[in-house]
Formats: sequence, structure tokens, C-alpha cells
Amino acid sequence: MKAIVVSDQAAGTAGMKLVERPEPQAAINDVIVQIHASGFVPTELTWPSTWTDRLGRDRTPSIPGHELAGVVTALGYGTTGLSVGQRVFGVADWYRDGTLAEYITMEARNLAPLPGDVDFTVGASLPISGLTALQGLFQHGRLQAGQSVLAHGAAGAVGSMVTQLASEAGAYVIGTGRAADRQKALDFGAKEFVDLDNDSLEDVGRVDLVFDVIGGGIGKRSARLIRAGGTLVSIVGSVEVWPVNGLAIDFVVESDRAQLSEIVQRVRDGRLTANIGNVSTLNDAIAAFNSTHRHAGKTVVRVRQ
Ligand SMILES: NC(=O)c1ccc[n+]([C@@H]2O[C@H](COP(=O)([O-])OP(=O)(O)OC[C@H]3O[C@@H](n4cnc5c(N)ncnc54)[C@H](OP(=O)(O)O)[C@@H]3O)[C@@H](O)[C@H]2O)c1
Repeated sequence: MKAIVVSDQAAGTAGMKLVERPEPQAAINDVIVQIHASGFVPTELTWPSTWTDRLGRDRTPSIPGHELAGVVTALGYGTTGLSVGQRVFGVADWYRDGTLAEYITMEARNLAPLPGDVDFTVGASLPISGLTALQGLFQHGRLQAGQSVLAHGAAGAVGSMVTQLASEAGAYVIGTGRAADRQKALDFGAKEFVDLDNDSLEDVGRVDLVFDVIGGGIGKRSARLIRAGGTLVSIVGSVEVWPVNGLAIDFVVESDRAQLSEIVQRVRDGRLTANIGNVSTLNDAIAAFNSTHRHAGKTVVRVRQ
């Protein structure tokens, strides 16, 4: 099969290679999925799991990409819950070969059925961003209607899901990002927008929840905006500055079949809109990842046309 592999950590996306690889074999509780579309997170090549296995051993050349939509072609020993020919979407294990390939073998529990009226490109754009937003806002952030949310990177992959889900839950959302992202953030449901390059973040006043997808100085300054009893939810590593009299949590998203089904149902009934940025083919993906052109939204590779 065709797959994109990486073996040189220092080279970043410039070190990606499109190669021929043997088709994967299903392990216990796995399914093999023929991938139609793959989602890619630009920071993946900085994640330790791209380079080593759970025991810290080199696992290169590894296949990046951890979101997918496709069709089940085989079941491993003991696998239940999915069947051959079923349309699925989900999140692939961080420590196993990923989705920038024609086939993947992965645990069935990390997948959910993809309804027939949802396009594979849309399906591949949702899993990590949708689950991260849902888990961060409601499980970890315990968001309630009427609260205010500072949604960083509101035109980006995760931030656009945060903005939409929080707005729909009855929160007052203040989006942030680049100047060019203002209208997109407002369209996703933000009531206000802060251009982080030109506006003063501190002018937003106090908020109940900060959803941080940026970190660094922005994360530290945001912690100081949280009112007593509020929460800082970070998806970009350990929190360095805690809110005064508030909570802080950093977490890594986990796959969840019921939540994936909830997310795709919201897309079907129009409550959630996919935020797809650059779409390329597997053949063109490396050039697309190395382009200097900015596409706000989720990067999707259409593996089968
Ligand atoms: N812990 C987890 O489970 C988890 C899950 C998903 C993602 N993540 C992490 O979350 C981060 C965001 O992921 P994503 O997929 O949403 O990325 P993305 O689509 O690139 O979204 C990030 C958005 O924030 C904007 N932004 C970043 N820094 C900014 C700054 N200093 N000023 C203004 N705007 C800024 C980006 O604009 P530009 O493109 O112009 O910079 C982009 O619009 C990544 O670091 C990713 O690894 C973590």
C-alpha cells in the first residue's frame, strides 16, 4: 500500500516520504480499515509517540495521521461491534502506525459508525477536534449555560469546535486568533473576537473558562483572566500559571465511540459545522504540508477519490 512515513525527527514535515509499505495485519480486537480520508494535526511530528513506542523504543519509520474515515475490510481475532463493509470514523492510537496510508489496523473501540450521509472528508475532520472540544468543555471544564468562555484559536480545528459547542450550550464565547480569522470565529458563534496580534487580551475582562490551544505567554495571561471558581482547560501541555481560586487541567483527548456518534449527529442535524482547511490527495499531501500558504481549519488528506 501507499503510505507517508517519517524517520527524521529534526526534518519535520520536510522529512516526510511517500513509500510502498506492506498492508497491515489485524491484531486481537483490531479492524483493518481502508482509509478514504485522513486528518492530520500539524504538531504531530513533535509528539514523542510519533517516534517511539510505549517503552520508549524507536518505532521509525512511522506513519503519521491519527484521524480517519473509511470502510472496514477485515476483523481481527475476537473483534466485535463493527462489521466488514461498515463505514467508520475515529482516532488512531498515538503509538501505532497512523492514517496517512491506504489501510490501517487499529482497535475497533477507537472507531464509531459513520452515517452514510456524512462525507468521508467531513468524517476525517471531526474526531480529534470534536472530541477534544467536547471533553475539554463538558467533562474537564464542567461548562454550564450562562458562563463565559475564552476560546483561543477560534478559527482553528479545535477552537472552532469549542466555539460552536460552547455557544450551543448557552455560553457567551469570546474567540481569539489572527486578524483574518475574525469573521470566521463570529460565524462559528463567538460574540466577540480578540485579534491577538493587535488587540489587548486583558480587555475581555473576567471569564469562567479559558480553552487554551496556544500556550506560552497567551496561556499565562489567560489564566489571570479567570474569575474565582473558574477553570483553565489546556490542551498544549502542563499549565504554568494557575488561575487564582480556580482550577486548571491539561489533558490529551481519548477516543470514545458514544461521543463520536454524538458529534457526527450534531453535524447531521446542522448544530455543528466541520471546519475543513486544506484538502489534498495522498500524492500531493507532503507538498501541501510544506506549503507556506495559510489555511485555517482542519488539514484533511483524501486518500481514495
Ligand atoms: N491535548 C490534546 O488532546 C490535543 C488535541 C488536539 C490538538 N492539540 C493541540 O492543540 C493545538 C491546536 O491544534 P489545532 O488542530 O486546533 O491547530 P490549528 O487548526 O492550527 O488551530 C490553532 C489556531 O490558533 C491560532 N494561533 C496559534 N497561535 C496563535 C497566536 N500566537 N496568535 C493568534 N492565533 C494563534 C492558529 O493560527 P495560525 O495558524 O496562524 O498560527 C490557528 O488558527 C496544537 O498544539 C495541537 O497539538 C492537543
